[in-house]
Amino acid sequence: MKFFVDTAEIDAIAELNDLGMVDGVTTNPSLILKSGRDILEVTKEICDLVEGPVSAEVVATEADDMIAEGRKLAKIASNIAVKVPLTWAGLKTCKTLTDEGQMVNVTLCFSTNQALLAAKAGATFISPFIGRLDDINLDGMDLIADIRQVYDNYGFETEILAASIRTVNHVTDSARIGADVITAPPGVIKKLADHPLTDKGLEIFLADWAKTGQKIL
Ligand code: E4P
Repeated sequence: MKFFVDTAEIDAIAELNDLGMVDGVTTNPSLILKSGRDILEVTKEICDLVEGPVSAEVVATEADDMIAEGRKLAKIASNIAVKVPLTWAGLKTCKTLTDEGQMVNVTLCFSTNQALLAAKAGATFISPFIGRLDDINLDGMDLIADIRQVYDNYGFETEILAASIRTVNHVTDSARIGADVITAPPGVIKKLADHPLTDKGLEIFLADWAKTGQKIL
């Protein structure tokens, strides 16, 4: 399973990238706002840092404008995935840009039917939002499982990018179901290494090691 980092914070991306944990990056207008950076500048920096796909989202709502924005974002670097919302205008943009050979991430997906449409429009990635479904008392993981089944039934190559990941359990469940990619905030990815028995075990080993009086270096 690939790990994308869901942030526009360069330092956080660089830290995880140095650990080999970054297969790509996703951004959105809210994350650009949070970074306080210019979208074109910060996206270029991320693309220079990371080899994998970097999602940059259009903000127009009419297809012609979305396509123009997508083409402009695509010029930033060869690893840009143009991110479009799951509307008919977004699907038209997806079809146009993927026909031109551009990677496209269709975002704000909340149903299996929406995911089916994105695959038929040639999307490179479909982004079902798990956390936001959980927020309204639905089960985001059911959606990931349904999309997995439907895509496998028909051999669609669109990659399932589990998004709006809020917890480490979302990561485990996405991996179990067979999502191709998860995108998570840096804090969630860092928490994946945590286990109280690891901490406790290390504490005991270090205490015993101190009693040996030995040194390795
Ligand atoms: C995905 O591409 C989105 O940027 C992101 O995962 C949304 O997450 P949120 O629901 O926590 O804002």
